[in-house]
Amino acid sequence: MEDNHYTELEKGLERVISPDMIGDLIDEATMPYKELMAYYKCAMMEVETKFNVLNENFSLGHDSNPIAYVKTRLKSPRSILEKMVRCGIPPTTEGIERGMHDVAGVRVVCHYLSDIYSLADALLRQDDVTLLECKDYIKNPKANGYRSLHLIISTPIFLHDKKRMMKVEVQLRTLAMDTWASQEHQIRYKKRIDVSDRSISEALLVCADMCAKVDEIMDGVHKNCM
Ligand code: GTP
Ligand code: MG
Repeated sequence: MEDNHYTELEKGLERVISPDMIGDLIDEATMPYKELMAYYKCAMMEVETKFNVLNENFSLGHDSNPIAYVKTRLKSPRSILEKMVRCGIPPTTEGIERGMHDVAGVRVVCHYLSDIYSLADALLRQDDVTLLECKDYIKNPKANGYRSLHLIISTPIFLHDKKRMMKVEVQLRTLAMDTWASQEHQIRYKKRIDVSDRSISEALLVCADMCAKVDEIMDGVHKNCM
């Protein structure tokens, strides 16, 4: 009896709301989110360009470029949702803008240690860049050995009718730091490997320290060659 009742109700709904209408409703409901993501993408592109310009500029008069490569990434909807739940961020576009600083990410991988600080200083001197937060995991490495310089900056994007300030997370590291971080990341996400296992965490820490030593020596060699 109840089953029939629901079937009739569903048929009625189908007549009132067509699949096209459902599609339109979804598009309408997700539009502010898509728009915000497009803005983050623009900010990410702006910051990537800033580093490409600095790379060209720094290479003038020198034989080499300070940047080995730049990688950008936009946080996935799944990661945004997970962070919202984990950090109690309201599930709105305002919540994302206020509570999240790593939706747009730019990773700058440098050849030498001193390039990191020269590039960071040059970026922060630009009058359309505001530093919101700085975490120097090179001077103060994480307990597991992780090293990088993290900057949260605010920078404008210029749209056809307005200027909008956007947050971007910038990670600056050397090739050695990047190799260690990507290998540690791989190991951490291999379910069969337990990073809390002391022998593994100690091995990772030894490798991180060796990478830091390589960076220190290479930086010295590089400075002597200049
Ligand atoms: P998140 O919620 O993860 O963004 O934490 P947070 O705001 O405390 O950020 P933090 O600046 O400490 O680190 C953010 C990012 O740095 C991560 O998303 C990674 O890309 C990188 N990172 C930080 N710690 C580690 C680490 O131990 N290993 C690796 N491989 N990457 C790390
Ligand atoms: Mg993050």
